[in-house]
Amino acid sequence: MSDLLVKNAGQASGNTSDILIRNGVIEDIGSTIDGVADNFPVIDAEGYLVTAPFVDSHFHLDATLSYGLPRVNQSGTLLEGIKLWGELKPHLTADALVGRALTLCRWSIARGTLAIRTHVDITDPSLLAVEAMLDVKRQMAPYIDFQLVAFPQDGLLRANSMDNLVRALDLGVDVVGGIPHFERTMEDGARSVAMLCELAVERGLLVDMHCDESDDPMSRHVESLARETTRLGMQGRVAGSHLTSMHSMDNYYVSKLLPLMREAELNVIANPLINISLQGRHDTYPKRRGMTRVPEQIAAGLTVAFGHDCVMDPWYPLGSHDMLEVASMGLHVAQMTGIEQMHHCFDAVTHNPAKILHLRDYGLQKGCNGDLVILQATDVVDALRLKPARLAVVRRGKVISTTPAVKYDLALGGQQIQTDLTSKDLVRR
Ligand code: FE2
Repeated sequence: MSDLLVKNAGQASGNTSDILIRNGVIEDIGSTIDGVADNFPVIDAEGYLVTAPFVDSHFHLDATLSYGLPRVNQSGTLLEGIKLWGELKPHLTADALVGRALTLCRWSIARGTLAIRTHVDITDPSLLAVEAMLDVKRQMAPYIDFQLVAFPQDGLLRANSMDNLVRALDLGVDVVGGIPHFERTMEDGARSVAMLCELAVERGLLVDMHCDESDDPMSRHVESLARETTRLGMQGRVAGSHLTSMHSMDNYYVSKLLPLMREAELNVIANPLINISLQGRHDTYPKRRGMTRVPEQIAAGLTVAFGHDCVMDPWYPLGSHDMLEVASMGLHVAQMTGIEQMHHCFDAVTHNPAKILHLRDYGLQKGCNGDLVILQATDVVDALRLKPARLAVVRRGKVISTTPAVKYDLALGGQQIQTDLTSKDLVRR
């Protein structure tokens, strides 16, 4: 827990403020804060945008950075990715899992992502990945808030994995996961949803299921998830991840489904980078985009977050755990180019996932954790447009990552001109 005064912090509103952090907690925010001791640590944000840290509400830390092991995904489909992960699982070691995850954590911190909900495959009876990810969570606790989800990748009923899932929860995994669309039948999928929600209620845990990650418009497990949530009184405690079949559903059916989701206060986690890559692979033309109906879900009053899902793994060859890349992709795929919509996309990788994860003391207000990121951007739209350098990343008042501002020196017609690509260069008249 450290002290820090951040001067000239650019705010989303366009104003600048000073932010005083004492003992790791934001003590004050004001137009000018002075009067601290001479040796008090100070950092000058120079008017650049300061944000609460990025939150990734959907990730797979056990599979990350395994791209190419034992081979690459030739078809680019979700199902080949699951098969490929199954081929790799017998060869996994704790050392390799932890080593790859720690590398990813360093990238996350450099990108200003300080809270991550990661699904962990529990279908291997040895629970090797669970033990390894719990180890990573412990090691990274000073820097990153981790939530682990017990994820039956090969199906709860299909792989008979309820016993493993319960043991994973006993070991300290935080959230109940599921994958109803991967069960053998629609009926099994619905049954798995009911069983998992009941287990979560019994244990007082949150739920986050991979749900309807399919282009099949008849994959309607989100309906079961919403209904079980309401039946069990779990409103606001359940998330549906992916929900890509909603993209392909009949519009009339969706007009009934959205109010059902609203009644359940079902949280939505879309994964734009991954679903724009994986979905529509069985289509010729036109090819469906495959992302869930984000603007309609926001309009229905649902909390929507964007997750990264994958970085260099059996499902996705790219990525560096940059949540601004995720937000930018989500914005493009959902055609959310209005100003307010772009702000929604920024919220989808900051405040909304923090709410879905039930993170405590998150935000840039007095009394919140002294966690923040200085972006080399003048405003939120700049941040989405440029995906700029994270000049400083602060955790509990301590600077844990820095990088110099990127500036370009141009020699044009005998003149030296400098630009950092931000909108402060714009001539507005
Ligand atoms: Fe996922």
